[in-house]
Amino acid sequence: MKYDDVMKLALERGFYFPSCEVYSDAQAGFWEYGPAGVGLKNKFIELWRRELIRRDKMIEVDGSQIMSKSVFEASGHLASFADPIVRCTKCKSTYRADKIIVDATKTVIPESAGLDEFDKVITEKNVKCPKCNGDFGSTKKFNMMFQVGIGPEGEEAYLRPETCQSIFVDFPRLFKTMRGKLPLGIAQIGKSFRNEIAPRQSLLRLREFYQAEIEVFCNPARLNDLDKFSEIENTKIPIQVDNEVKIMTCKEAVDSKIIPNKFVAYYLGILIEFYEKAGIDIQKSRFRKLEEKEKAFYAEVAFDFEVETTTGWLELVACNYRADYDLSGHATKSKEKFEVMDNDEKVLPHVFELSMGIDRSLYTILEHSLREDKENDRTVLSLKPYLSPIHVGVLSLVKKDGLAEKTDEIYLKIKRKYDVFLDHSGAIGRRYRRLDEVGAPYAITIDHQTLQDDTVTLRMRDSMEQNRIKVSELDEILSKKTAFP
Ligand code: GLY
Repeated sequence: MKYDDVMKLALERGFYFPSCEVYSDAQAGFWEYGPAGVGLKNKFIELWRRELIRRDKMIEVDGSQIMSKSVFEASGHLASFADPIVRCTKCKSTYRADKIIVDATKTVIPESAGLDEFDKVITEKNVKCPKCNGDFGSTKKFNMMFQVGIGPEGEEAYLRPETCQSIFVDFPRLFKTMRGKLPLGIAQIGKSFRNEIAPRQSLLRLREFYQAEIEVFCNPARLNDLDKFSEIENTKIPIQVDNEVKIMTCKEAVDSKIIPNKFVAYYLGILIEFYEKAGIDIQKSRFRKLEEKEKAFYAEVAFDFEVETTTGWLELVACNYRADYDLSGHATKSKEKFEVMDNDEKVLPHVFELSMGIDRSLYTILEHSLREDKENDRTVLSLKPYLSPIHVGVLSLVKKDGLAEKTDEIYLKIKRKYDVFLDHSGAIGRRYRRLDEVGAPYAITIDHQTLQDDTVTLRMRDSMEQNRIKVSELDEILSKKTAFP
């Protein structure tokens, strides 16, 4: 289904909605998760922990969102984390130069291109302000970090634009105290902040957003020396080669040099296995190697993991080989030592990162899971049971004759272990449809027969099949059906 259908569902069923919406000065690019959104997000993160962090024995940290100026001098963000912008000389509206050019002329200029390249196209193709048809001034750079003032003197600091800087700064301490060994993955989940010029499409371009970042520190001389590669060598990955997406095994991708080494292939392999379990349609995904001009300033080699949606291809994960860019920068600026021992060799580790946008991933899961079941006149959100905000609806067929009390009794037995929605009122068909829309994979209904033989009906969301089961078996059945894979 389309973006607008997901938006409607999100607003009506408590997945997400705009921040500060009752005020007219609410700013664009800030959204809140409602109860269903929080449920989905928490379970998505749990799956990420299971499939990537625990699987690869990574360690996780939780760093500060406000970081000192020195961090971003060393990381290059103060100098380079900027978008090209143009301002209309007549109405003073500001736009991203690359976006205004694409919209007006369909010419794609990467945002990292030189400023004169934007000016040249704007002049040659006579690009004008879409609001007032005025002329644009010359292209400038706009730094996207939010500056904050600390304490009464307002000392300069910044909201982090990516979570990973604390992982780099903390690396020497973490490696030592956790008795690290290369390769070592260090992960972090949290919010990052970017002062986007044109935030849009709800969760797709936010100013305050969630990232799940993994930074894997490695010895650059040993990128093909990886025993665990055998775990994923036969895993199939979709990879764009010459404008065509080819599905090949990780081993084939390394042998044909489409992926530079086993180390990178291993992490792309476990990433695709994770997204498959999250319910993304892998047939609609690709790893795309970025051109020189498309890469972030810190990346030596970069693959974007992109997924096709009705809004176009969305980048869900930036897979950047950052080499020693960050550790060298922090070592020079802080004068601390960032080298570590790998067997008997002293090395300044290189870094390969999997930088995941959580909000976009959740949007994509919702879009890929939402379907219209015309035959049965319902909308169904076919989330994986382990990701669903509600595992099971517990419904009394009617409130009278002691059914409400029996329903409450069953609800009390399972509510601590599962996410349960208790519902006593309304037509049963409508109640099932509401549960279908929020993605609840199961519903149990307590009826008059329950009072006689202690059985309930268990309804399956996707097939709408109903089975009679014993109340005493409920926990075991739900436990199996909602377990993480
Ligand atoms: N750490 C990479 C990014 O935020 O895109």
